[in-house]
Amino acid sequence: MDLKKLFGYNGKNVVITGAASGMAKSATELLLELGANVYAIDINAVNLPVKASFIADLGKKEEIDKVIEELPDDIDALFLCHGIAYFPGKELEVQKVNFYGQKYMCEKLLKRINEHGSVTFISSVGGFGWQQVYKEATELIDLPTWEDAMNWYQNHQDLIKSAYVFAKQCLLSYVTYKCTSKEFIDKKIRLNAINPGDTITGLTDDFNKSTSPSGDAKEGKEMIDNIFLKSWNGYAALPEDMGYPLVVIGSDICSYMSGELIYIDYGLTSSWLSNALLSENTKTIEEISENSSH
Ligand SMILES: NC(=O)c1ccc[n+]([C@@H]2O[C@H](COP(=O)([O-])OP(=O)(O)OC[C@H]3O[C@@H](n4cnc5c(N)ncnc54)[C@H](O)[C@@H]3O)[C@@H](O)[C@H]2O)c1
Repeated sequence: MDLKKLFGYNGKNVVITGAASGMAKSATELLLELGANVYAIDINAVNLPVKASFIADLGKKEEIDKVIEELPDDIDALFLCHGIAYFPGKELEVQKVNFYGQKYMCEKLLKRINEHGSVTFISSVGGFGWQQVYKEATELIDLPTWEDAMNWYQNHQDLIKSAYVFAKQCLLSYVTYKCTSKEFIDKKIRLNAINPGDTITGLTDDFNKSTSPSGDAKEGKEMIDNIFLKSWNGYAALPEDMGYPLVVIGSDICSYMSGELIYIDYGLTSSWLSNALLSENTKTIEEISENSSH
């Protein structure tokens, strides 16, 4: 069997963001191995032998508009992977970088994505429970312009308080809401997201600092280990544990897979779900079963 043919990336145009580091860098290395023409975008320089790379701040509308002009007219796979951690005062920036700019970029590029192409996001286990904000997230998604969305955020400070979590929940809501919408279905463009668990990447130090109330990285790391690793006697993932599955999901191998929110966390969120379903708290059980059904 010809593996390159099976993946279907050979000679195809692939756009990937966040490729200077971590998961998207691993994904880019594999995409190159599989023969893709990779167009990589990051706020930092991408040091890989890609077809073209661009430096842009993808939290800014004007920089997204500018970089999009440099991208090819036909695209087979789009991977939106960039992201930042949350620090106090950065609620809106986190929404723009981790969600709204990604939605905006996806929709701007949609007409260039070929039939049977794919769009894949990196969300997070932090987005678990996204069903609880689905109505609000879809209201935001439906707004026609960037400016409308910025006004909406100003009026929904309560939601963006949980900055990183809300942005990742919006990404998961977007996949669920849009996967069968006309703009994706007419050309049979697949739309999916992965939800990584704790992974050692360029973001690790920021996550550690931002998790500790005092900004102490060591304390933050202990807190993260307690939440994400201790319960299953586990260990943190490596970038390729996320980057390689990402490449598979965007490839022809997964040609019938769309609308999926794939948790790559060694079962952590399944254990959260199991605990909630078995708990005495019937409200939680009702909420989960009701929300999981659509
Ligand atoms: N590391 C984890 O434990 C973890 C867990 C769950 C989800 N995630 C998500 O995984 C994705 C990839 O992150 P990573 O962990 O590989 O971290 P990383 O820092 O190694 O990679 C993120 C990349 O995004 C780029 N980036 C940041 N802000 C940008 C902007 N405004 N414009 C353009 N590029 C920008 C960075 O320069 C970097 O190269 C992110 O969306 C992150 O939220 C990470």
